[in-house]
Amino acid sequence: MNSDVEIAGDPLAVPHLLPPVPSHPSTVAGFAGLARTIAADRAAWAPLVRYDATTRWYHRLRTGPGYEVWLLSWVPGQGSGPHDHGPSSGVLTVLDGELTERSTRGTRALGAGAQRVFAPGYVHEVVNDALEPAVSLHVYFPGLTEMPMHPPHALACTPAHPDASALRTPFLG
Ligand SMILES: [Fe+2]
Repeated sequence: MNSDVEIAGDPLAVPHLLPPVPSHPSTVAGFAGLARTIAADRAAWAPLVRYDATTRWYHRLRTGPGYEVWLLSWVPGQGSGPHDHGPSSGVLTVLDGELTERSTRGTRALGAGAQRVFAPGYVHEVVNDALEPAVSLHVYFPGLTEMPMHPPHALACTPAHPDASALRTPFLG
């Protein structure tokens, strides 16, 4: 009986016919894939996590052409506040624990492995409403240069409050 490999040939045996694997992602799907790859390598990121009761802790894991990857920790009760990401798009991936995301589209619980992709102008708030710490991975493309904060009622109205640009913070989310 013939197998697909026998019929089509084993692509692993002819690596010169495979498309080159990009060393750096350049598409949303590519950045989401990068995040999943990093997430799966728990032994690499787990030792870097710190929990800080005074502020959300964040650590830049890596940078590449046109993107940055950040590791964040959230103790129970810590949150980002409503914000957008300036001109950056992003991929948020929960690595451990559970986070709650609030946006104009509603509230959703994000468990370990959950992934959210957002475009410039997307306003949300991320909070650890759980009883255990949480860890998340954030890919921003281009790298995050600003994170305008929005007033608390911003998530109840669209578009974002016009005062949003007046409030800025260096914190990530
Ligand atoms: Fe965010």
